[in-house]
Amino acid sequence: MSAAVIEVADLDVYYGTSQILFGVGLSVRQGETMALLGRNGAGKSTTMKAIMGLAPPRRGKVSLRGVVISGRKPHAIARAGLGFVPEDRQIFPEHTVEDNLVIGKKRGPDGQDEWPIKRIYEVFPLLEPLRHRIAGRLSGGEQQMLAIARTLMGNPALLLLDEPSEGLAPIIVQRIGELLRQLRSIGSTVLIAEQNMHFCLGLASHATVIDKGQIVYAAGIDDLKANDTIRRRYLAL
Ligand SMILES: Nc1ncnc2c1ncn2[C@@H]1O[C@H](COP(=O)(O)OP(=O)(O)OP(=O)(O)O)[C@@H](O)[C@H]1O
Ligand SMILES: [Mg+2]
Repeated sequence: MSAAVIEVADLDVYYGTSQILFGVGLSVRQGETMALLGRNGAGKSTTMKAIMGLAPPRRGKVSLRGVVISGRKPHAIARAGLGFVPEDRQIFPEHTVEDNLVIGKKRGPDGQDEWPIKRIYEVFPLLEPLRHRIAGRLSGGEQQMLAIARTLMGNPALLLLDEPSEGLAPIIVQRIGELLRQLRSIGSTVLIAEQNMHFCLGLASHATVIDKGQIVYAAGIDDLKANDTIRRRYLAL
């Protein structure tokens, strides 16, 4: 078994005086696609923000390949090798598609340059003909692809995606799903927060389930598929 890329342990996060996360822990190994599943308000985005230093945990620890990164500022955490695509995607709407990609370019934590723009266009063939378009005029699905592509341009050791399927038409959700399966097949390490369990069942290798700010289940994806009780109790709408 390969080593953990990210190890999250015992995170407590508060917004003001209300506690949102209670001892959250999870880990993602090299090459895994981990789905962080849970209902609306369960704490998925907060977990991602805590990992990224955007909602600093009051207790607990996040390690990236054995090095503790919790306590650092968000930009330092990103530089250490975490690539985060937030719910609102945060592309630069006034810039072209290609400028958005170029802005995201940086070497990985070990100096990797695995995502030259040529490879980005091979993996995201829909973006190439749009390269001179203003990003703010793209459809929601195109913007989501651009946000993922731009983040990959930074050669992250771990890609974190918050609800990549949210608000997109079913056909586009399918496209994003194919893309994520492709990333898994080329060995990328990914953590996806999703309410949409069905979207994840076909592309994740593992699943962690969060409910009311606590981790209630973690297993391989086939185990979750076979576990009606967990799916019904924590993931049914
Ligand atoms: N800025 C904030 N201030 C106070 N409470 C917040 C804030 N952001 C989120 N919360 C609360 O924290 C809890 C967890 O929210 P979070 O956004 O992490 O859930 P989520 O699992 O990502 O949900 P969704 O599927 O709707 O994106 C919710 O009860 C939410 O109302
Ligand atoms: Mg969320």
